[in-house]
Amino acid sequence: MTTLDENTGAEEELRSNLELIGRENIDDLEAVLSFVGQYDVEGFHRVPDNCPAEFTWDYEKGSKPQLDRLYEKAKKAQWNGQTDLDWSIEVDQERVVIANAEANPAQMQWDEAAIAGTALEKWDDKRFIQFGIENQNWLLSQFMHGEQGALLCTAKIVETVPWIDAKYYAATQVMDEARHVEVFSKYLDEKLSGHYPMNAHLGLLLDDIVGDARWDMTYLGMQIMVEGLALAAFGFIHAMTTEPLLKKLLRYVMADEARHVAFGVLSLQEYYKELSAAELRERQEFAFEAAIRMKDRLVMQEVWERMEVPTADVIKLMQAAPERDEFQILLFSKIVPNLKKLGLLDAADGWLRTKFTEMGAIAFENLTDSTEDEDAFADGSPAERQVA
Ligand SMILES: [Fe+2]
Ligand SMILES: [Fe+2]
Repeated sequence: MTTLDENTGAEEELRSNLELIGRENIDDLEAVLSFVGQYDVEGFHRVPDNCPAEFTWDYEKGSKPQLDRLYEKAKKAQWNGQTDLDWSIEVDQERVVIANAEANPAQMQWDEAAIAGTALEKWDDKRFIQFGIENQNWLLSQFMHGEQGALLCTAKIVETVPWIDAKYYAATQVMDEARHVEVFSKYLDEKLSGHYPMNAHLGLLLDDIVGDARWDMTYLGMQIMVEGLALAAFGFIHAMTTEPLLKKLLRYVMADEARHVAFGVLSLQEYYKELSAAELRERQEFAFEAAIRMKDRLVMQEVWERMEVPTADVIKLMQAAPERDEFQILLFSKIVPNLKKLGLLDAADGWLRTKFTEMGAIAFENLTDSTEDEDAFADGSPAERQVA
């Protein structure tokens, strides 16, 4: 589609799906599954970081009152991943898989019609349980990798954001994210039974976020998109899991994530009012691309591969179970109201609104945004508040 650039008067094109995400149809599962990415065999992964580090000589604390308030709350909301969680709880992964499936049949059980004609038709109970175990290992691994992404991005924000109140707040988030990587890693090592590498789609997105030279893109990619989705995902797993240690761990992490997402909205809302139409368009495209990468990740291709299910069967299974897709769309419930608050849904004749309408996620635009999340401005640590 075309829009008129307010500054230059020139007609500017918003790029097509093919240019942005490498395919025309966002639901093209074959394309999603064919992208496997490259695993880093050396045990590390380097991304050039092009953003200039910025000193400020304006030390006036509280120039940004909402960020200042968030910073003061964050200092009091710290918790200790080693001592505030009961790591003596034993986790029997098989029993957890069975209990979770019984408690959430709609999300975790396959009906016979859906698996007919696929490899799953011949699976016995043991194989289905193994699939559930792989699911858990994969999910927690992706949470852990995503948390490391947040750790790196937030350290970068400390360097690049121009305002002292934001640098202060971001420093508390660096501590939060270190704790999150620590607890997910400990849970995987001590309670589960195997790691997965970073999902290719998530990895691509994190590389894009870290590599972008504009400081606000770090916020948009991480605080608004990745953490917005994570907050919703943690909420669902928290509600669905029957395992008490993971339940509490997630609840504690969510208390921190609510602040992080609010930090993103509070930091960007004024800044985005000053941007030109052309600059806003780039942010809209970036948000759309990020949304698709995150949606693609949910296909969990690495699990299917490990379970030796052929790609054609995976596509069949996904198409036979549209309610799973609906469930995944719920994960955008935090992102859409925040993009609206930032003006990104409506800019360029509502280009991004159309995209989220096509994805089936636009109804969330009327939910409250993350600056009104109770957890974000709560007093005291989750341990003191005894959140449940
Ligand atoms: Fe986190
Ligand atoms: Fe976070």
